[in-house]
This record gives sequence, structure tokens and C-alpha cells, in this order.
Amino acid sequence: MKVTLLAISVVCLACMGCTADPKSAAGFTLPDGDVQRGQDTFAQLQCYACHSVTDIEFDAVETSEEIVKLGGKTTRVRTYGDLVTSIINPSHRFAVGYADEAIKVDGQSKMRLYNNEMTVQQLIDLVAFLQSQYTVEQYQPTPYIPYY
Ligand code: HEC
Repeated sequence: MKVTLLAISVVCLACMGCTADPKSAAGFTLPDGDVQRGQDTFAQLQCYACHSVTDIEFDAVETSEEIVKLGGKTTRVRTYGDLVTSIINPSHRFAVGYADEAIKVDGQSKMRLYNNEMTVQQLIDLVAFLQSQYTVEQYQPTPYIPYY
């Protein structure tokens, strides 16, 4: 009997552990942002110093930084979680398709941190703006010619 109870509590504790990870993104939802305000914020914070966004024109900047493209065709939906993380925790995961030395210094993203100056509303609007710039295209398998 004691052994059964012990077994049950171990199983219960283990299950609670899997659903109660304090670092889980479960339950994370942003309110709707404003795409136009997001674009204005992007310009105001001069994100374009290191980024291009589809074919939107921003002021020209003289920079020696690698220009990382945002928006455009993608096969993977950019969720709120992806974009918020890229903006406030840039070294968590790195943009794909760039040489390490172009986007990292000492293993950290070259992206500037805005956490002490960006408002939450600006973050929400930036995410809405960036999401509106990605077009999700389904992966197209190579057409298969049946062989008889
Ligand atoms: C000093 C240059 C610099 C500035 C300024 C900058 N970024 Fe970045 N950003 C980068 C670099 C380099 C990367 C690629 C490395 C990485 O993923 O962190 C990046 C990555 C990103 C990504 C992820 C792209 C992907 O495909 O995974 C997003 C989204 C992004 N930046 C948004 C912003 C926004 C919004 C701003 C303005 C608030 C901004 N960045 C300002 C340099 C910059």
C-alpha cells in the first residue's frame, strides 16, 4: 500500500513538473499591435541601421554592419514568441543564413539592446509590423512524375 502511494505521488510530482516550467511560453499572448505605428517605431528607433524590411524604404544610413533582412517569404510562421525573443533577447537564437562573424561578437548578437528604452507598446507595435511583413509559403515538394 505504502509503495503504491509512493509510486502515485512520484508520478504526480513528475507530471506537475512538466506542465509547470516557470520558463514556459505557455499562456503568453500579446494584445493586437498597430502595424503603422510599428513601422514608425522601427524608423524612430533606427532599427534600419542594421535591417532592411522587404522593400520598404527608410532613411539611408552609413553603416559597416551586416544588413539582416526582416520580412519576406518564409516557410516558418514567425510567432509573437519568436519576434519578441529576437528583439529583447537577441542572443537566444540567431538569424539563419549569415556568417557568425557578421552577426556575432564573442558569441553574442551584435544587435543593440533596447530593453531600457523601448516601451511595451512599442514592442507590441513592432511585432505587429514585422509579422505583417512575412509571407508564409508552404513548402513545395518537387513534382513527382509517376513511373509506370
Ligand atoms: C546594431 C545593429 C542592429 C540594430 C540597431 C538592430 N538589430 Fe536586429 N539584429 C541585428 C543582428 C546582427 C541580428 C542577427 C543576429 C540575431 O539573430 O540576433 C538581428 C536580428 C533581428 C531579428 C531576428 C531576425 C531573424 O531572422 O531571426 C529581429 C526580428 C530583429 N533583429 C529586430 C530588430 C528591431 C525591431 C530593431 C529595432 C528596435 C533592431 N532589430 C535593431 C542587428 C541589429
